[in-house]
Amino acid sequence: MHSFFSGMLLFATSPAYAFVQGDCIKHDFALTRLALQLSPGAAILCRYSPLQQHNAHRYWGEQYGKNATLVVSPHTRKDVSFAVQAASSSKLGRDLAFVGGGHGQTNASSTSGFLIDLSWMNSTRILHNVTLGDARVSTAIAYQGGATWKQVMDCTNGTGFTAVGARVGDVGVGGFSTGGGIGFLAGAYGYAIDRLRAMEVVLMSGEIVLATKTNKYSDLFWALQGGGGQFGIVTTFYQEAVPEPVSSEFGIWTVARESWERARLNTMQFFDSNDDPFSLMYYSLGYYPEHLTPGDLITTMVIVGIRFGAPHNQSPSPLTAYKNKTDGTIPTAKPTEQKTFNQTFSALLDGLVLKQSSFYKVPYGQATELSTPFFPYGYRRGFWGPQTSKVTAAYLATASHSMETYINESLVRGQIPATAVWVLQYMYPFQNGHAPISDTDTAWPHSLSAHQTLFSPAWTDAADDAFVIHNNDVLNNITYHHQASIGPFVADYPNYISPKAAGERVWGGNVKRLVQVKGKYDPQCRIHQGRVFASEVCVEKGWANVFEGKG
Ligand SMILES: Cc1cc2nc3c(=O)[nH]c(=O)nc-3n(C[C@H](O)[C@H](O)[C@H](O)COP(=O)(O)OP(=O)(O)OC[C@H]3O[C@@H](n4cnc5c(N)ncnc54)[C@H](O)[C@@H]3O)c2cc1C
Ligand SMILES: *[C@@H]1O[C@H](CO)[C@@H](O)[C@H](O)[C@H]1NC(C)=O
Ligand SMILES: *[C@@H]1O[C@H](CO)[C@@H](O)[C@H](O)[C@H]1NC(C)=O
Ligand SMILES: *[C@@H]1O[C@H](CO)[C@@H](O)[C@H](O)[C@H]1NC(C)=O
Ligand SMILES: *[C@@H]1O[C@H](CO)[C@@H](O)[C@H](O)[C@H]1NC(C)=O
Ligand SMILES: *[C@@H]1O[C@H](CO)[C@@H](O)[C@H](O)[C@H]1NC(C)=O
Ligand SMILES: *[C@@H]1O[C@H](CO)[C@@H](O)[C@H](O)[C@H]1NC(C)=O
Ligand SMILES: *[C@@H]1O[C@H](CO)[C@@H](O)[C@H](O)[C@H]1NC(C)=O
Ligand SMILES: *[C@@H]1O[C@H](CO)[C@@H](O)[C@H](O)[C@H]1NC(C)=O
Ligand SMILES: *[C@@H]1O[C@H](CO)[C@@H](O)[C@H](O)[C@H]1NC(C)=O
Repeated sequence: MHSFFSGMLLFATSPAYAFVQGDCIKHDFALTRLALQLSPGAAILCRYSPLQQHNAHRYWGEQYGKNATLVVSPHTRKDVSFAVQAASSSKLGRDLAFVGGGHGQTNASSTSGFLIDLSWMNSTRILHNVTLGDARVSTAIAYQGGATWKQVMDCTNGTGFTAVGARVGDVGVGGFSTGGGIGFLAGAYGYAIDRLRAMEVVLMSGEIVLATKTNKYSDLFWALQGGGGQFGIVTTFYQEAVPEPVSSEFGIWTVARESWERARLNTMQFFDSNDDPFSLMYYSLGYYPEHLTPGDLITTMVIVGIRFGAPHNQSPSPLTAYKNKTDGTIPTAKPTEQKTFNQTFSALLDGLVLKQSSFYKVPYGQATELSTPFFPYGYRRGFWGPQTSKVTAAYLATASHSMETYINESLVRGQIPATAVWVLQYMYPFQNGHAPISDTDTAWPHSLSAHQTLFSPAWTDAADDAFVIHNNDVLNNITYHHQASIGPFVADYPNYISPKAAGERVWGGNVKRLVQVKGKYDPQCRIHQGRVFASEVCVEKGWANVFEGKG
């Protein structure tokens, strides 16, 4: 009797089967079997069930929210594997997609068919002295594929270790870490893709593998270093940890219109002369609602200066050191005293009339929360832009004029483009010696370091999609022409990929190999939403859109 009752209690508090919401599985053998295979922490959510609706609303760009026929929410890597296998034998699996944080801008992470929502796989661990296949790492941040950066930061905050993560907390680790990964600390320690040491990946066969830079899955590892989520589902990323900064200081300054020219000159000077890899700035022109910047709804210039307190023994290397990076020599840091916030940014503010000035000092783990309000949900959105290796005041003036034209025209069309913004983001040259030596080292070519531009429009009417994309093209062309006039080709940043950007703009000479890796790891072209590399089968089925050469 006793054991009978405790058995019942166990059953009542921890069910043996995954949760199914709705009745979409009963006529599909692959799905009824999946329901029995999944762990108790997992779920299957049918179209129009409350949790499926929750899923459809968690996309940052409203145009990407779709009602999937079914959403599988795995809890373990085995669940992911079972879901991938069920998708291959269910007819619903023809339109397969998977989503991490839902911030992607290529329409890849949603589908009206079979969706794997990774957001219940969101834990983070800090591992010391760990062996990952053939790689050894003294400290790794192991984050699951469906976490957000806020979840990772909440875990690392105050530990002395952290990872290179997104600057907005609700961005997912999955898209971010396979598309480059520019964090606040990328200038000091490299992009996320350059710090990955291993990835646990569920292949389209259902097999679970650990890929490293040098093991038998090195081609897969390489492709995931900037090629995006087209090759398999990463269930855990292992990023080599960086020391957590001792402080994070933010200055946010709204520049009066009479000082715009001066601000552009000062910005150019900062870009040319900054010698602290732990300090950076953003130049932006946006259209902000009142709770973000004071005064009337109007085009506003905001410049942001950020300084992280360098941990001891991590003093910046002098500016001259990285210049030898082009010869293939990694510079050795000569410790110097890090400048204070005011020393670093006084020249940037010199001579400017400011409409508003704010200063924040927060623990590093909370730094993302300062930018989150500037990127709200609830609009159709873009998050796009190419890069440039040199900034001039004239270039900034041209791009700014174009951004203001976009805002003015949006207003004429009856839109209120609140929170629309164009940003130029400073990147420390060669990521302080952490950039790859060669463009072929990672799927995304970035041995030549550059600064990022970002056009993030916000609009509400689908009829304006083409208008917005046209304005993105205009802005992109300004940056392309500027870059062509001052220096060599720099690839677009994969995480900011523009709607019409050809594959070679982003992956340069690496498209050919990406196509091969795609064909090898996804032979049926089952992952075919968003940017799809032109493997033979993807071409045959009409899903390919990233081709070698101009395509
Ligand atoms: C407000 C905002 C702020 C941003 N800030 C930054 C920033 O600071 N730095 C930066 O570099 N980028 C930034 N980005 C860009 C961001 O990195 C990309 O949009 C990224 O794709 C988002 O990842 P996600 O998991 O949230 O997106 P999702 O839409 O869930 O996924 C995007 C793509 O990645 C794939 N994917 C997701 N999870 C996995 C996984 N576990 N394994 C394999 N593939 C996966 C999806 O299938 C899809 O193809 C920002 C974007 C927004 C909208
Ligand atoms: C999804 O379903 C809901 C509820 O029926 C509906 O309101 C919404 O418009 C649908 N979304 C899309 C993108 O079709
Ligand atoms: C996204 O892709 C679907 C097909 O999967 C397509 O119907 C839809 O128009 C696309 N939306 C955007 C905004 O690109
Ligand atoms: C994180 O995962 C847990 C289950 O593992 C889930 O209950 C929770 O809702 C997830 N968090 C988010 C924000 O999705
Ligand atoms: C790391 O592991 C090695 C061997 O596995 C061991 O000798 C060493 O003491 C460990 N170091 C730390 C810091 O745990
Ligand atoms: C983060 O860590 C700092 C100490 O370094 C602490 O003061 C702060 O409260 C922590 N924040 C959170 C959200 O845990
Ligand atoms: C680059 O390296 C060469 C030879 O190693 C050295 O002579 C030169 O001073 C270095 N240049 C810089 C800018 O550090
Ligand atoms: C930095 O500069 C600001 C504005 O000029 C000033 O108010 C502040 O006291 C200065 N801080 C330090 C530590 O000098
Ligand atoms: C945009 O409109 C504002 C307000 O009418 C005006 O001051 C500004 O010159 C316009 N800018 C451009 C580029 O059209
Ligand atoms: C951008 O430049 C390309 C190539 O020069 C050109 O074909 C295209 O029309 C331009 N687009 C816009 C919107 O200016």
